[in-house]
Amino acid sequence: MSYEKASAAAEFIRSKYSGEIKTAIVLGSGLGAFADAVEGAVKIPYEEIPGFARSTVVGHAGQLVLGTIDGVAVAVQQGRFHFYEGYDMEQVMLPVRSFGLLGVKNLILTNAAGSLNSDMMPGSLMLISDHLNCLGVNPLRGPNDERFGPRFPDMSEVYDREFQEIALEEANNIARERHDKGRDAELTDFIHRGIYCALSGPTYETPAEIRMYRQLGADAVGMSTVPEAIAARHMGMRSLGISCITNLAAGMEEGVIDHSHVMETGARVAEVFNELLRRIVIRIGK
Ligand code: HPA
Repeated sequence: MSYEKASAAAEFIRSKYSGEIKTAIVLGSGLGAFADAVEGAVKIPYEEIPGFARSTVVGHAGQLVLGTIDGVAVAVQQGRFHFYEGYDMEQVMLPVRSFGLLGVKNLILTNAAGSLNSDMMPGSLMLISDHLNCLGVNPLRGPNDERFGPRFPDMSEVYDREFQEIALEEANNIARERHDKGRDAELTDFIHRGIYCALSGPTYETPAEIRMYRQLGADAVGMSTVPEAIAARHMGMRSLGISCITNLAAGMEEGVIDHSHVMETGARVAEVFNELLRRIVIRIGK
């Protein structure tokens, strides 16, 4: 059933855009502006794509943008589906699975996340080196369809190491170039690498929970990305995960955590974030 759904979505996307899509990019909360950089953009609202759910969250536009970045064909998801919205995991994984069936080889997953590491401050970025699935469920639970991948997929390298190296290199290039132009102030310590812990949400965490997740080895917490990364690994796609650190996690600073702050920080880093994404897309697409 889910294979047929993903095929129907893929076919529909193909009918709107015939280019050979190299890389798909999922834009997280407050990070949607990257889609504006797509050239020759064909925009498809999610409600038109068979099987796609709707984006219900502020900061998620809810459309697929197809086109090119410096000649590299991309599919950009401006807004994603989260488990906390009440969608089942099949719906959450559907876009990535349809990209896989379209022949997309590379996936870039972005998100907003809270930091558990006081070296990793709001406004900085974290390349995801690995994850902790604390969603309470594995998205692949249920009958396995071998056309997607094996029953017991290996998870020893969910986030492609070479992609991480490329991302790190480009982030450092951007920092150096901006430093040379005298614009380094906001770019000290802006790129990190760490473990992303996915939680179901929709509540933010308690301070006690944050202490527990830190003990478990988490560097950042968020409410997305892991189901899509697992779906991609299942299908043999290569993934890169980038968290935009929007706040320190619960209990680490005075005050409350609020979605509007998450959005504000996303907007603040957009310029550097979008430039980094652009360079990564070009490097891994060539
Ligand atoms: N916790 C969970 N998800 C988040 C956070 C957080 O602190 N910040 C942004 N997304």
